[in-house]
Amino acid sequence: MITTERLVLRQWQDSDLEPWAELNADPEVMRHFPAVQSRLESDAMAAGNRAYIDQHGFGLWAVERRVDAVFLGFVGLKALADSNPLAPAVEAGWRLARHGWGQGYATEAATAAMADGFGRLGLERIVAFTAVSNLSSQAVMQRSGMTRRADLDFDHPALPAGHRLSRHLVWERLES
Ligand SMILES: CC(C)(COP(=O)(O)OP(=O)(O)OC[C@H]1O[C@@H](n2cnc3c(N)ncnc32)[C@H](O)[C@@H]1OP(=O)(O)O)[C@@H](O)C(=O)NCCC(=O)NCCS
Repeated sequence: MITTERLVLRQWQDSDLEPWAELNADPEVMRHFPAVQSRLESDAMAAGNRAYIDQHGFGLWAVERRVDAVFLGFVGLKALADSNPLAPAVEAGWRLARHGWGQGYATEAATAAMADGFGRLGLERIVAFTAVSNLSSQAVMQRSGMTRRADLDFDHPALPAGHRLSRHLVWERLES
């Protein structure tokens, strides 16, 4: 668990599943992904995140606002699958419900998750990547102290060649 000024990054709980499914079914939240997620897919991803945190002591944390305990989405770190061109590496990622946008929450949580990665977890490098069109996510990367690595940009292996989301831009942050 990680606590920031306004947020708690914590293990997932059953009460997250409903608001998590709602944000995954929101076409605006999922605009830069191939499709919105069904309830089944949403539940499976939450279960995967929960198991990963249990196993590794870090992961894609559920983000809760401290003042009212409202679930906002996830922010955290995860080791990349071997199939990712940047592997082996740990990536930072985030996805918040629309009502949580525009308040600096993603940057606050990402900065704290990366500090935990470099501190407690002893990481030397964290990467992040997103589709060319996802300017909001790129802004979080920049605001949370990451550096653009255009030389590492890649076409996502899970998407067919020529897909509108295929090209991914890469950022990185090294332990300072
Ligand atoms: C990516 C995503 C998390 C970014 O959310 P965001 O709200 O734009 O980013 P932040 O939480 O860092 O908030 C920054 C904004 O809050 C504003 N803000 C307001 N109060 C603030 C405060 N107290 N502190 C900091 N910023 C504040 C900033 O000015 C900035 O506004 P701007 O976008 O108009 O410049 C969000 O768009 C999202 O969940 N998208 C869908 C999922 C997704 O694409 N994930 C990434 C996949 S790679």
